[in-house]
Amino acid sequence: MLVSSIDAHQHRHADHPVHDLFVRRWSPRAMSGQPLTEDEIHRLFEAARWAPSSFNEQPWRFLYARRDTPAWPVFFDLLMDANKVWCARAGLLVLVLSRKTFSHNNKPNPVHIFDAGSAWVSLALQATEMGLVAHGMAGFDWNKARTALAVPDDFDLCAMFAVGRPGQVEDLPEPVRAREVPSGRKPIAEIAREGPFK
Ligand SMILES: Cc1cc2nc3c(=O)[nH]c(=O)nc-3n(C[C@H](O)[C@H](O)[C@H](O)COP(=O)(O)O)c2cc1C
Repeated sequence: MLVSSIDAHQHRHADHPVHDLFVRRWSPRAMSGQPLTEDEIHRLFEAARWAPSSFNEQPWRFLYARRDTPAWPVFFDLLMDANKVWCARAGLLVLVLSRKTFSHNNKPNPVHIFDAGSAWVSLALQATEMGLVAHGMAGFDWNKARTALAVPDDFDLCAMFAVGRPGQVEDLPEPVRAREVPSGRKPIAEIAREGPFK
């Protein structure tokens, strides 16, 4: 299995025992420029499919482009320059959408983006398990994406992400090369509290 040249465990330590995958998943930018296979793409979306959602609505939708296909430049041109620098060597670019209303009654679904986020992280963990890298992105032209990809009004745009095979850090241009280090996390005491907020 291909693995990133950087081992997240060298930089990250869980304070409490958890499945290795949570710590091993991170957002590298170094990718090899190789395409993904159809089977790999199916396995990624299969993981996303099984995420939980309110009323099992499954509001997430994924529009994607494989590298070396006609759709690729359309998706790639949506990215901010800072993301184009490293996404040029990704294998897959994906736009995540989420349906704003429940299909059973057309009423607003207040948690649709929460649900779409669950699907994305399932996919990102699956990518890690497969030795691929997945990297979320807010840095793209949101208005252009809606128009260029014909997103209907009843869907919100959530984010984009890139997936690829791990590449060499040395191939990344500066300044992104210097940032190619797995990040840390806030302590539990800062993110979870028993009882009210204050
Ligand atoms: C919704 C979302 C948007 C993000 N946008 C960008 C982006 O536009 N460009 C980028 O280089 N990284 C982006 N990131 C990556 C985050 O910076 C990264 O997930 C965060 O620093 C935590 O690091 P880790 O994923 O390696 O654990 C994004 C991540 C998420 C989940």
